[in-house]
Amino acid sequence: MIRFLIGLIVGIFLVACGTYYYFTSGMAPVAATAQPMPFERLLAKDALHAKIRSEALATSPIQATPANLLAGAQVYSHDCAFCHGLSSAQVSPEGRGMFPHAPQLFTPDGMVTDDPPGITYWKVKNGIRLTGMPSFEKSLTDQQMWQVSLLLRNADKLPADVSAALAPAAEPAPASTPPKAKPR
Ligand code: HEC
Repeated sequence: MIRFLIGLIVGIFLVACGTYYYFTSGMAPVAATAQPMPFERLLAKDALHAKIRSEALATSPIQATPANLLAGAQVYSHDCAFCHGLSSAQVSPEGRGMFPHAPQLFTPDGMVTDDPPGITYWKVKNGIRLTGMPSFEKSLTDQQMWQVSLLLRNADKLPADVSAALAPAAEPAPASTPPKAKPR
């Protein structure tokens, strides 16, 4: 029994030393472009899913009416497109440069149309810790957070005017020729 206990303590000590060495020797990935740590993706995703399962509301208090989708598109263009892109042709290089990447929510691979709006609403409201995904609880109203969540739920079947509201802003007209420097 004593031998087992000593073995256990030595084992725990060695694991602690190994972990400390891993993080202090420069082996642990810290760059946004680095590969995930062993088990990092699994642990982070499982922890997030467990939390959301226990807290997300099952149904949306507002409906996906054209007016709500349009309002959601305005929120999205203003607050989300910088990281999540506007379409397959307008992906966000900044979002792709983050670790973890910001999924491009209007591309076939990145859409979250399968997620109930309550799940998306939870992520928008609370943000996702240790990723670039901010919490919008203090910057958007509850209604706006539901509107943008309904927009993402319906991202593959939006009415034409809503899609148009998501189109990238037209290039600004070229400024008039700058005044020539005054001759001295
Ligand atoms: C500064 C960058 C940034 C902004 C701005 C941002 N996000 Fe995110 N978002 C992220 C990142 C990074 C992730 C990936 C997190 C992860 O992998 O767990 C993410 C994840 C998400 C997800 C989960 C996607 C999935 O596949 O499960 C949703 C939904 C989302 N964001 C919606 C939004 C909405 C809506 C807005 C605007 C109100 C927004 N985000 C603004 C960076 C951003």
